[in-house]
Amino acid sequence: MTSQSQALQFAHSYLEILEGLGASDDALSPFIEALRSVDETPGDNATHTLDHPLMPLLEGVLAKAEGPQVLTSSVAALASEGGFFQVYEGEGINATQADYMVGKHILGPKGRLFNEKLRAGIFFLAANFEYPMHNHAGLEIYYVLSGTLDVQNGVDAEPRRIGPGEYSVTPSNVPHALTIGNEPVVILYTWVGDLVSPIYWWVEEEDGSWTKTIAKELAPTSSPDTNK
Ligand SMILES: [Fe+2]
Repeated sequence: MTSQSQALQFAHSYLEILEGLGASDDALSPFIEALRSVDETPGDNATHTLDHPLMPLLEGVLAKAEGPQVLTSSVAALASEGGFFQVYEGEGINATQADYMVGKHILGPKGRLFNEKLRAGIFFLAANFEYPMHNHAGLEIYYVLSGTLDVQNGVDAEPRRIGPGEYSVTPSNVPHALTIGNEPVVILYTWVGDLVSPIYWWVEEEDGSWTKTIAKELAPTSSPDTNK
């Protein structure tokens, strides 16, 4: 099976899951609508090998992924073709943020299948890692395939634990933080809505106020690009 058809299979299977969950949660509607727009338009073919401390662990973690076989097998097949990127890099990024998370686009502006309405793919994070408070204008869902994590949506909110088959929706611009459990985590991330505004770090000052700084600029959705 080609990578393109694996990506299509991924989109269909993921859509089916969200349609099932969406029967009792309207917050999933925007993701369902965007996934329904996925067609066979091919995207770029990033298949480079990423030299990153997390990569040797990926196959083992994916082998433990839970969910419909068609979903887990398409994710494993797409992961094995390479094309992962380090989520944050460059000035102002500390080793923790750089070394403990990687991603791969499957659907979207840079996906295996091109689409302007969403960004969806694999997000792989190290055990015991804390992904600091950040926000973005895109509406986001994390759907867990392997491992458990605590998701905090809002600076004063209580974190909520999710594991395989469970999800968390982060509304547009709400700051959120992730704390990974004692095993690495594979999440399916999906963004809809504003796919181009930057991601910001939120840093708490001594007086309890929060300062925002740009964490990452995002590539445009409609033209070829080489940004991560
Ligand atoms: Fe996010």
